[in-house]
Amino acid sequence: MQANNNDMVEFFKNGFLIKEFKECNTLKKVNENLKNILNNQVKSNFLLEEKYANTKDLRPTAYNYDTSFLDIIFNNDVHLLLDHITQKNLLLGHVQVRTSKAGHSYMPWHRDVYSTDNRDAGMMPPAIKLIYYLPTQNYENKLEILQSSHRLVLNGLSEKSDFLLPGFSNFDKQLFNFCNRYEFKNNNSNYIIFDTSCAHSVSETKEDSVRIIYSFATEHQIKSHFNSEHHLNLMEHYKCLKIKK
Ligand SMILES: [Fe+2]
Repeated sequence: MQANNNDMVEFFKNGFLIKEFKECNTLKKVNENLKNILNNQVKSNFLLEEKYANTKDLRPTAYNYDTSFLDIIFNNDVHLLLDHITQKNLLLGHVQVRTSKAGHSYMPWHRDVYSTDNRDAGMMPPAIKLIYYLPTQNYENKLEILQSSHRLVLNGLSEKSDFLLPGFSNFDKQLFNFCNRYEFKNNNSNYIIFDTSCAHSVSETKEDSVRIIYSFATEHQIKSHFNSEHHLNLMEHYKCLKIKK
């Protein structure tokens, strides 16, 4: 992959980047699998379990549901792109497949990473997420990001009086006056990579949807943040694939 400094600068400034997977058999396989999962037809030894209202997550793990879920990353050199735009050696710590019913989202505006007067929440420095939605006939807004909000943060605000919701403060609310609300609409094969300290929310949709969520961080962070075996297995597996490539 040709390193593109524009991507690095854009990601640093905005906190997110939109890219497209190339049309290939791997993408077809990913889509086929996601479609079946959306229709509640999951492979044996896997199941869909409700995590948040209106959503179901693929269990017990998603990364080994189908080889295409990791192949799509390497066939598109996403591993190189991620390391370039973050200037880190990132590994994969978590893969989730989540179906959502049409309607209001369970996830209002929030940051995954923030600090209050009495605690630090989320992974610091922030994990980087990649989200890909199965394309639908009618493209819809799926995710909103408050552009550049990862660089506009106040630390130490009172959890009791300054926070409207977990991960969303009075200060964050004022950012709507200054920052662009970027609406990520899924089309054929596009995906979003974002810094999880950005304020973001899941949009209300008219159709049911399914998405795959990859969480990247450094080896040290994955080892200290995720203690269950399957995260570490995934990380080691990703590391091997990265070396082979
Ligand atoms: Fe989030």
